[in-house]
Amino acid sequence: MAKHPTVLVLNGPNLNMLGQRQPEIYGRESLDDIAKACAAKAKGLGLGLDFRQSNHEGELITWTQDARGRHAGIVINPAGYGHSSIALLDALLVSELPVVEVHLSNIHRREPFRHHTYTSQAATGIICGLGSQGYLLALEAMANLIKTKKARA
Ligand code: DQA
Repeated sequence: MAKHPTVLVLNGPNLNMLGQRQPEIYGRESLDDIAKACAAKAKGLGLGLDFRQSNHEGELITWTQDARGRHAGIVINPAGYGHSSIALLDALLVSELPVVEVHLSNIHRREPFRHHTYTSQAATGIICGLGSQGYLLALEAMANLIKTKKARA
């Protein structure tokens, strides 16, 4: 593992369209804006960051598998795949890493089909409804999870 523990931040389908996509729900920031804010936050927390987005389920699964032994934790906004992908849940379980799930919107205030996510079954915690701030809070939580794990080891 690198000198600083690194966190993989994964973004699922359609999140590349942030800023243009339903801004009344998802806000006006682009994914690049969020990536930059995450990089600054991770630096302050003494963490390395690998920030990625894919519209392809298989690619997200491969990246999740590859995180095992390579990264110290995963922050994931699985987007629509959270509601549908048992395979992505399985990959998160394969990683054996602490996972924090993030949603920009409050999925519990939205359509019933958004209330359940398979991926949350692999998550230590979930943050939703706080917009892009959720990613930064997730990184803070992850820094603590990594520290606690180290303290226990
Ligand atoms: C989302 C919520 C999901 O229901 C939706 O499919 C998304 C984005 C969010 O960040 O609020 O694509 O994960």
